[in-house]
Amino acid sequence: MTERLEDIAAKMMANGKGLLAADESTATIKKRFDTINLVSTEEARRDYREMLFRTDEAMKTCISGVILYEETLYQKAADGTPFVDILKAAGSIPGIKVDTGAKPMAGFPGETVTEGLDGLADRLAAYYKAGARFAKWRGVIAIADGLPTWGSIKANSQALARYAALCQQAGIVPIVEPEVLMDGAPANHTIDRCAEVTEWVLRTVFTDLYDARVSLEGMILKPNMVIDGKNARRASVEEVAEKTVKVLKATVPSAVPGIAFLSGGQSSKEATAHLSAMNAGYDLPWGLTYSYGRALQEDALNAWGGKPENIAAGQRAFLHRAKMNTLAAKGSWKKDLEKAA
Ligand code: 13P
Repeated sequence: MTERLEDIAAKMMANGKGLLAADESTATIKKRFDTINLVSTEEARRDYREMLFRTDEAMKTCISGVILYEETLYQKAADGTPFVDILKAAGSIPGIKVDTGAKPMAGFPGETVTEGLDGLADRLAAYYKAGARFAKWRGVIAIADGLPTWGSIKANSQALARYAALCQQAGIVPIVEPEVLMDGAPANHTIDRCAEVTEWVLRTVFTDLYDARVSLEGMILKPNMVIDGKNARRASVEEVAEKTVKVLKATVPSAVPGIAFLSGGQSSKEATAHLSAMNAGYDLPWGLTYSYGRALQEDALNAWGGKPENIAAGQRAFLHRAKMNTLAAKGSWKKDLEKAA
């Protein structure tokens, strides 16, 4: 019997658990490995992800699901166990990034449109067979002088809606990710400009999801937080929490079971502090958790450094961030818990 989308979505959000975004494309993981001077071979990518997925306590107590890249969905650990089986054994749901990337948008200088709809129905059927029960598609919106344009917002929003409809038809929960960048050049915009653009984008996305007949109960929203540009950081934790909650309450229907933020270039601790402040300080109609890539992995990647003798250190670092973020998803993270570690 196929599971109901609502039940999968509820499991993704249960008990303060959150998602590990480990779906870096081959080009993106190369950039991450460059920071530790490691060559990105298939074996290095396997070893790195095996380290994370075999952090048993983190996977069992914190990580409800992992977003995988296609290579990883079909990949096996060094001992031959499929990664999908390792995740399932820990009670974590395998997910899959299905877009094929944000590409320059014809006629819209400085903007992108995300590709990957052609043949998507067939790919989703194959991913379902391989064990994936949720998927991710990321639309990217840049803030700059005169940007974003309505044309780019609309094109990205319609692609997200089409993708979400195809996922639900395939028995897969869509993570709908319209990311308003904090670090697109020049990245000096204010938090209020981010709020205005994020509201515009989310209003558009929910209109298009409705038009595409997507069931809100069977999806997860993955938004950016409302935050100032990377080169203009000024807002306090309280201000980020207040402005993010305000925009989400104005735009996200309460039928949506969960919102799982991206980290987007925030430091690991900022991403945790912001999430905790929202959960601690506000009465919210949906669950609010994390779906972090960099903010969950950065410390682990650095502790590991590509060396087999550092696997335990990498796993300790990953477990710590997973625990901190699960506390944040319950609104009970405290700064001194970071120092204690
Ligand atoms: P970051 O948390 O590093 O932004 O990655 C999350 C993600 O999945 C972006 O698509």
